[in-house]
Amino acid sequence: MQGVRRLLGAGIDSARLDAELLLGCALGMSREELIVAARRKLSVVESDRYEDLLRRRLNREPLAYITGRREFYGLELHVTPAVLIPRPETELLVDLALARIPAAAERHVLDLGTGSGCIALSIAHARFRSRITAIDSAPGALAVARENAQALGIENVAFAEGNWFAPVAGQRFELIVSNPPYVAAHDPHLLQGDLRYEPRAALIGGVDGLDALRVIVAGAPAHLRPSGALLLEHGYDQGAACRILLEGAGFHAVRTWQDLAGRERVSGGVA
Ligand SMILES: C[S@@+](CC[C@H](N)C(=O)[O-])C[C@H]1O[C@@H](n2cnc3c(N)ncnc32)[C@H](O)[C@@H]1O
Repeated sequence: MQGVRRLLGAGIDSARLDAELLLGCALGMSREELIVAARRKLSVVESDRYEDLLRRRLNREPLAYITGRREFYGLELHVTPAVLIPRPETELLVDLALARIPAAAERHVLDLGTGSGCIALSIAHARFRSRITAIDSAPGALAVARENAQALGIENVAFAEGNWFAPVAGQRFELIVSNPPYVAAHDPHLLQGDLRYEPRAALIGGVDGLDALRVIVAGAPAHLRPSGALLLEHGYDQGAACRILLEGAGFHAVRTWQDLAGRERVSGGVA
């Protein structure tokens, strides 16, 4: 396929998969439907639409923003440039959260910085008796998260707009989870790959990347029930700093978990 060659030529490793997904998007077909339709000649309109999507990908626009879709924890989510593209690494945070919520339990969980809603919706979907409150300061992100909840028929998530804990003043939860912005303001990665296209407010956590993590750790004890837990995703080199923050805020059983690649990825503690 010519599209695969052009993407490969531009150094895109996932060229075949990308070309298939873009073609499926141009034709409004799933990958399975594409296989059946493989021998069909494209109409001029279809071929123009495919060319347009291919050009966007050749400009390194993230595939998820072009197709508007991304799978996370088995859920098909709508994504737009208003939200961070959900990452596979974040599934570790969901695994750890679910391990703390027995299937039949009615827990109240807080997700801070919900973005597309990926974490809140995954927890809500797997633990339908629990209630999740999902907060974001970006109205555009919340609109996407609400749309995802509706499309998936998930009703046990309440969304609220505001600055971290502000919308839940006086409320306490059994579990608080967050994947906050944690990239340092001058990190050169911000100028590379997908990060160039993603919302700055979803990525940057101040000069050392720890600003949001500091605010969340400091605010969490007042919003946790006795023995409630806080779980935070962070950068691969921020585990030690997070453990110091958590211990300083009085958390116990503080520890860090590694992702499948062995990088420190999630830290947490018990109030
Ligand atoms: C790294 S993204 C995570 C999005 C999603 N939870 C995920 O894991 O893909 C961080 C999110 O925090 C939100 N955010 C940034 N500052 C915030 C603040 N002060 N209060 C609430 N949310 C904030 C951003 O809008 C963004 O959606």
